Amino acid sequence: MTDLITIRRPDDWHLHLRDGDVLATVLPYTSGSFGRAMVMPNLQPPVATVEAARAYRARILAAVPAGDRFMPLMTAYLCDHTPPDELRRGHEEGVFSAVKLYPSGATTHSEFGVTDMAKVAPALECMQAIGMPLLLHGESTDPAVDVFDREAVFLERTLQPLLRDFPALKVVLEHITTEEAAQVVRSDHSGRLGATITPQHLLFNRNAIFTQGIRPHFYCLPILKRERHRLALIQVATSGDARFFLGTDSAPHARALKESACGCAGIFNAPTALAAYATVFDQAGALDRLEAFASLNGPRFYGLSPNEDTLTLLRAPQAVPDNVALPGGAAIHPFLGGSTVPWQVRPARPAAPH
Ligand code: DOR
Ligand code: ZN
Repeated sequence: MTDLITIRRPDDWHLHLRDGDVLATVLPYTSGSFGRAMVMPNLQPPVATVEAARAYRARILAAVPAGDRFMPLMTAYLCDHTPPDELRRGHEEGVFSAVKLYPSGATTHSEFGVTDMAKVAPALECMQAIGMPLLLHGESTDPAVDVFDREAVFLERTLQPLLRDFPALKVVLEHITTEEAAQVVRSDHSGRLGATITPQHLLFNRNAIFTQGIRPHFYCLPILKRERHRLALIQVATSGDARFFLGTDSAPHARALKESACGCAGIFNAPTALAAYATVFDQAGALDRLEAFASLNGPRFYGLSPNEDTLTLLRAPQAVPDNVALPGGAAIHPFLGGSTVPWQVRPARPAAPH
């Protein structure tokens, strides 16, 4: 049995870091283990201009703990009227690594997102021409669509026409949750379509949200799906297929905002994501493929080199705290908080000082 596994340092290709005190609190959990992260732009107001992204990147870099080597990769929040030249300039100047498309109303802070794909055709033309990737929150916002079907409907109504109309556009289907999404990505052989997968969608099915009561800390978007989908995600993630790579979608919300009559969507998994992925790969008998998923496939898709240094995971029980404290007395509940997970990152990062 493998008890110690050393892989190239992983990257997180889908991450929410927020800003201010929350940024300072959550960032060390990522920067201690990951070399790079694709940082989501859904702040309020959204990160939609080159100048906003440059300033946000500077705030992130200023919050990286001494001794961590971490590179945030910035994304542009796509609005109906984003000028293509803003994207082009941000890309040329090395500020924007990619563009994030939220269908308007699909999720947290998506109200400035895209209301109609026709409106962003000029931006997509430009991105296709300059090789700038599009990152998709792939859920239909049609209120008539069942919440558990939103991803599958998006694939048919939005993704397929997009892939047809922009045949050279690089696209990442973020946080895939269904067998249908896995199949769409697998059936593309052009090399321009990839997908990220979160730890929660690999470890849990939708029953987790309703076990002996309602469990708001299992609520994220896209919502957890039924078991057959989870099994399909495990299959593609652990297969070594280069089109699938690690993206945690770690999305911190203060505990009180989740434990509420109208709780926020998002799971703060940065502290336990790697232990969770290792658990999944171990259970699938595929620990030897963890490095491809976590550290190689993502850089390859984005045309970057893998990280030079390494990260070691140890099979040893890790008690996960129930809370991560925020300045001022609030707290965030981490994914798997209050339980013991079978893997840990070595050396363990000391708890953030607060
Ligand atoms: O659960 C989610 N939380 N899904 C998203 O798409 C956004 C994220 C957030 O920013 O909280
Ligand atoms: Zn996200």
